[in-house]
This record gives sequence, C-alpha cells and structure tokens, in this order.
Amino acid sequence: MPQHLLAIDDVSDDFEQLLRWAIEFKRLWKQGDEVALNFLPLDTLAIGSIYEKPSTRTRVSFEVGIQRLGGSALTLLKNDIQLGKSETVGDTSQVLSRFLGGITYRCFGHEDVAELAKHATVPVINALSAKHHPCQAAADLMTVLEHFETTEDLKVAWVGDGNNVLHDLMLACAMLGIDIHYACPEGYEPDTDVVERTQALAEKNGSSVTHTTDPVEAVKDAHVVYTDVFISMGEEHMTDKVQAFEGYQVNEAMVAHMDEGWAFMHCLPAHRGDEVTDWVMDHEQSIVFDQAENRMWAQMSLMAYLINHGAWEAMAEFMGLA
Ligand code: CP
Ligand code: NVA
Repeated sequence: MPQHLLAIDDVSDDFEQLLRWAIEFKRLWKQGDEVALNFLPLDTLAIGSIYEKPSTRTRVSFEVGIQRLGGSALTLLKNDIQLGKSETVGDTSQVLSRFLGGITYRCFGHEDVAELAKHATVPVINALSAKHHPCQAAADLMTVLEHFETTEDLKVAWVGDGNNVLHDLMLACAMLGIDIHYACPEGYEPDTDVVERTQALAEKNGSSVTHTTDPVEAVKDAHVVYTDVFISMGEEHMTDKVQAFEGYQVNEAMVAHMDEGWAFMHCLPAHRGDEVTDWVMDHEQSIVFDQAENRMWAQMSLMAYLINHGAWEAMAEFMGLA
C-alpha cells in the first residue's frame, strides 16, 4: 500500500524532518551543490496532476519541482479528461496508477481525493480539497522555521474563515508544538474532527490551541498573523458570508497589537482590500512570497519521501539530518 498525503497529519511522524530536509536541500541547491543538483529521485517517472479548480502556485510549484527531481510533469485539467463526465474517480485512479509514479489532485469534496487514494497503487497527494491543503501547511511551517530562530514560545494567530488552510495550519503547528490561537466568527469555525485531531497533537507536543471570535484577542502579542480569503473556491455563491467577517481585516491597526517582530502570512491569492490591506501585504515583515516559493521546496521533500523513500533517506543522511 503506498503512503498518501490527504491531510498534513498523515506525515506526523516525520513532519519536522521533512521540513528540515526541504530547508537544507533548498540551501544546497541554490548554492549549486552537485549532489543536490544531481538528486533525481523521480528519474523515469511521470507525475500526473489533476485540477478541478484553478491554480497558480500549486501547479507551477509542482511542475517545476517534479522537473528538478528528474521526473516529468503531466497536468490534467478537468475539461480535458473523462473524470466527472463519463468516468468515476475510482476507475480514473486505477488507470492513472498504471502509468504514473504519483498523482496530485485538486478537487472540491475531500471525499474525492480520499476515493482516488483508495483505488491508487501509487502515492496520492492532496493539492487542495475543500477540507484540507496539506502542501500549503508544509510550505508554511517550513517558512516559519526559516524565519524564526526558535519555535519555543512562538504564537501563531489565524484571523478569518475556519477553512481548509486553517485546518492543516493548526494541525501542522500542533505537530511542531507551536501555540495556535484562531479567531473565526460564529458559524465559520474549523471542523470539529480537525480541532480534536489538533488538540490531541498539541497535548502530545506540549502546545495550546485557543479559539476566540475576537481577532484582537487572537493576535495579541502573536509573532505570526495568518489570514486567507473569506470566500473560498466553490463558495462563490455565498456572497452574504462576508458580512460575518466585519473587523477581521488584517491591517495596520491589527498588527499594532502583535509582537514587534510580527510576520504576516497568507497562502495567496490574496484579495487586497478585503481580508488584508496593501500596507500589510507589502510590508517588509510580510513573508507571503517566501511562503509561495517554499511550496516548491516543501513539495520536493514530500514527493521524494512518498515516491522514492530510499532516495529521500539517503539525501537526509548526506545533509546530516539522519
Ligand atoms: N496557495 C495556493 O494553493 O495557490 P494556488 O491556488 O494558486 O495554487
Ligand atoms: N481557502 C482557499 C485557499 C486557496 C489557495 C480556497 O480553498 O479557495
């Protein structure tokens, strides 16, 4: 049975190691290190990526990352394939498994990526579902580890919708023992099962998970404030939803309550002027474009780990991480 990545806690045992691997590999690769440049664990493999929703970062970071690991990237857009028209997710999965070394899937309902994984004989990576966005959380925590000298006493605040990005962010913070305080309006809290999984991980790793409906309370003395769009892909019809987010904009007045070394994070794309102002987005303490770049490095670590584990371990040893 291949190991899949449907939610970030699927790799809870090795999460920190996966991120340290990505950070060190990025450093070596940028330095022109021959071992890193010649690390080709996906050599001869094609990796297919199905998209039912648009994407800039996920698509480009996967395509470039796959090429850099020696594989070939095959992007399958929903209008070009039979899935959803005349073929089931399960049959599509079995067919693709005969050709590909791994499959990434961006879908609407989380049950679709779970169904694809159930029938796949190669690793499946969730490239965003309505419930989870694990690749984003891997890049986000990689960025946090790069940016802050230590995670001890670090406080991450979320201000916004209790959505897919928050789900994996809170799980990921708890996996690293980082305190997470989330402000979500009533009716837009994260799913109960994800909160329970987060609480169990936080307990194990000695950190806290705190919910409030007051954004200022959440960001008080925090080191990171993270937000996302109020209306996610697939919710475009829910125009009334934005009313619930009055007072939730991350702006100059809000970050004034934070630790002076505050950092602003956003998965992007951002709706400037809605959930965040230009002042915050363009501030030198905004690390949103580091997050975007790290999508690729974090996914390179995840792909090598899931698809060619022996090569990932050998590289970890070479980098002094084993
Ligand atoms: N953050 C993110 O997943 O961006 P895309 O929708 O552009 O892939
Ligand atoms: N919550 C957003 C994230 C986009 C990367 C969405 O699902 O549309």
